[in-house]
Amino acid sequence: MEAHLTEWLNLGIRWIHMITGIAWIGASFYFVWLENNLNRSNPRDGLAGDLWAIHGGGIYHLEKYKLAPPKMPDNLHWFKWEAYFTWLSGIALMLVVYYLNPSLYLIAPGSDMAPAVAIAIGLGSLVAGYAAYHFLCDSPLGKQPALLGAVLFVLLIAAAWGFSLIFSGRAAYIHVGAIIGTIMVGNVFFAIMPAQRALVKAIEENSEPDPVLPAKGLLRSRHNNYFTLPVLFIMISNHFPSTYGSQYNWLILASIAILAVLVRHYFNTRHDSNRFAWTLPAAALGMICLAYVTAPLRPAPSAAPVAAVSSEPAATVAKVEEVAPATALAEPSADPAITQASEPPFATVNSVIQERCTVCHSASPSSPMFSSAPAGFMLDTPQQIQQQAAKIHAQSVASQVMPLGNITQMTQEERDLIGAWIAQGAQIN
Ligand code: HEC
Repeated sequence: MEAHLTEWLNLGIRWIHMITGIAWIGASFYFVWLENNLNRSNPRDGLAGDLWAIHGGGIYHLEKYKLAPPKMPDNLHWFKWEAYFTWLSGIALMLVVYYLNPSLYLIAPGSDMAPAVAIAIGLGSLVAGYAAYHFLCDSPLGKQPALLGAVLFVLLIAAAWGFSLIFSGRAAYIHVGAIIGTIMVGNVFFAIMPAQRALVKAIEENSEPDPVLPAKGLLRSRHNNYFTLPVLFIMISNHFPSTYGSQYNWLILASIAILAVLVRHYFNTRHDSNRFAWTLPAAALGMICLAYVTAPLRPAPSAAPVAAVSSEPAATVAKVEEVAPATALAEPSADPAITQASEPPFATVNSVIQERCTVCHSASPSSPMFSSAPAGFMLDTPQQIQQQAAKIHAQSVASQVMPLGNITQMTQEERDLIGAWIAQGAQIN
């Protein structure tokens, strides 16, 4: 029951997070596009430019003022709640997924860090991240946007690397995303909104607006613009174990972030020059290269004569039943050549999977944390195991993100064994 409630809590909060996030980023993309596409050639008095657009069966005419209309409108629309609710729901989702189940999702498998310490580091990093960012933007570095950008990038990747030492891969990624998200919302709350309020106040009071605040708001809003695509990748990253599950996950994140910034830069500049047209194909090529370098190393199927282990499947299975699998299976792979050349019998593989995976991946999981098979992924029958061998390989051999938090303490020998069985064609009889 508790597992079922957590699932629906997760669903509700995640849904809100998506809805508000789309509203926020959608509006933000739209205004960047508007700004970039204003017709500035022949503006009316007091206007910076205008723009015609057709959408939803109607024609719109938008005008941007240099500063303000002669009389402030009664109803001026502000955009802020989308940002605030995206952040609040994001933090709530992090609580439900990572902090309610720290040993499963948050802490690196095998680490003995106390859950409270890990959670404190996670939450503390959000505060420290925004504070460091704020300090850097207001320092003399703030006057050199390119250098500032490079410093911020290095610091964020250093955070990713640090997290990867203590957190699970997916928690490491999500915390980098949460730091960036916190910076983005902090920018709205602490820099952009105050600048806009000061502007409106100055106009209403007929006084000169302070030029410092808008300049600050502009820098922060530029940063937000370039942060969006890396953050969006991080938000979907937990579907892709070959990224966060890699030993070099922080480096993969750095590469994807650079490609994402290139894509954003293309869309930011294409309205006025083709100078950065190369960034889009370069990013596509970069993704192909990343797919290549992150490919798992598969042991080549070997034609070598079948070794002793598989010629006596019955004996090996009997051993597994007698002894704990960890010790029983350490034997066949003690000599890697044997593991790779021999054909591990399915019965042995099956007993490993039943021991290490089906607590969760079953039609009726015995783990109290799940009321149904996670991701609908079941490994109860030989046929299910065979059909899903590629996924099993991706998640528990190539990357080792499964078992989640290595809660069932799968050993390297067992992973090697499953890898060898799959490399030999994943036969079940
Ligand atoms: C403690 C529970 C638990 C254990 C044990 C566990 N998993 Fe998972 N597994 C999950 C959860 C939860 C997901 C859902 C996806 C997510 O949150 O990343 C998942 C997702 C998967 C997926 C992705 C399925 C899909 O179609 O998206 C695969 C493959 C997988 N697990 C394989 C395994 C294998 C193989 C083992 C045993 C070696 C294993 N898991 C052990 C909890 C577990």
